[in-house]
Amino acid sequence: MIRPILKYGDQILHEPATAVGAITPDVDQLIGDMIETMYAAPGIGLAAPQVGMGLRIAVVDVSIGRDPSGLIVMVNPEFVERDGMQLEEEGCLSVPGFNATVVRPSRVVITALDRSGTAFVREGTDLLARAFQHEIDHLDGKLFVDQLRGIKRDLIVRKIRKLTRAGKW
Ligand code: NI
Repeated sequence: MIRPILKYGDQILHEPATAVGAITPDVDQLIGDMIETMYAAPGIGLAAPQVGMGLRIAVVDVSIGRDPSGLIVMVNPEFVERDGMQLEEEGCLSVPGFNATVVRPSRVVITALDRSGTAFVREGTDLLARAFQHEIDHLDGKLFVDQLRGIKRDLIVRKIRKLTRAGKW
């Protein structure tokens, strides 16, 4: 089932999510819905708070479904290593219509549980490193807009407020 994606300003997006205790049938269903919602958007990643669930779950597929092995389900992900630096344009399904250049590590290693509850370690470089960092930020209540500084951030936030007031957000 495709779930509605919440937008910047919805409180759950701005709060840290809670660790998953066990992969219950409800959690499995949520993961399935998140995968469907991500591909339908389409997007390269989606975190549970974006569909209104404050749980530490994210899905990523930088191939957007083109590569059958591209799908990564992360439950309770944590960074093991982070290094390097990249500067690329970034957007978010919860901040539609806005992009900005965000500084990110160029390589990360994460550990997480997969959909069956088995622990795994995964290295990501370039776009995958960016996606891991972006999604784990969501689980900490942070959006890419929060990584921006000064007028770049203010400009986006002001435009979103204006759209919200006009009932167009
Ligand atoms: Ni996002």
